[in-house]
Amino acid sequence: MQTSDNVARVMPRYYAQRAAEYERVFDKPHRQPDIAALKAWLRAQFAGRRVLEVATGTGFWLPEATAEATAWLGTDINPEVLALAREKALDFDRVSFQIADAYALPASLAACRFDAAFAGLWFSHVPVSRRAAWLAQLQACLAPGARVVLIDNRYVAGDSTPIVRVDDEGNGFQQRQLSDGSTHEVLKNFPTAAEFEALLPGRRFEFRELDYFWTLVFEA
Ligand SMILES: C[S@@+](CC[C@H](N)C(=O)[O-])C[C@H]1O[C@@H](n2cnc3c(N)ncnc32)[C@H](O)[C@@H]1O
Repeated sequence: MQTSDNVARVMPRYYAQRAAEYERVFDKPHRQPDIAALKAWLRAQFAGRRVLEVATGTGFWLPEATAEATAWLGTDINPEVLALAREKALDFDRVSFQIADAYALPASLAACRFDAAFAGLWFSHVPVSRRAAWLAQLQACLAPGARVVLIDNRYVAGDSTPIVRVDDEGNGFQQRQLSDGSTHEVLKNFPTAAEFEALLPGRRFEFRELDYFWTLVFEA
């Protein structure tokens, strides 16, 4: 299967189909200390900011991440996941949602000049060859000096779903199963600090590793 097919077709469909069972992944008991730390940290990252989020999903992080934000626009390609995000206990005077493809953010968003951006567990699904372009069009929606925050999974042998295939450009693929028995080959990468150095040449960034997650913060 071509990587472009995976991104355009397989990934959106997989997450639409997974929507109702998605948050079970956050139930793993050994991951709770990391998850609690991340929630508290996200709350502080976005205090007083107008935030654009891509690939919001079911909004797992939002009760904490949005708590002190001035405004928050969560976007995702799938209405199925945003319907679940809308059921969260959020302040809908400040928090709204919109369908958008993370690779083709609408011009109306570029006009908004957000002063922060967030993507949770998304960057790992961006093919290596599309990382720079994806970051560039995200930054086109941001004001100069805006804060960009990414969080994602680390690969932990024995705990993470194994990588069963690596393509020519270095993208890893996992074989995942949903509770309906369907199987899906999902692109999943585990970038290192060195890869971010190459992606953000000469830029200051903070890359932090927890036990099961990593965080990246830099200024647009
Ligand atoms: C791993 S989930 C992350 C959800 C959430 N950010 C979190 O941290 O739990 C990936 C999300 O990407 C969304 N997605 C897949 N392809 C997309 C695309 N091209 N544009 C925007 N969202 C996409 C899926 O619908 C899914 O909600």
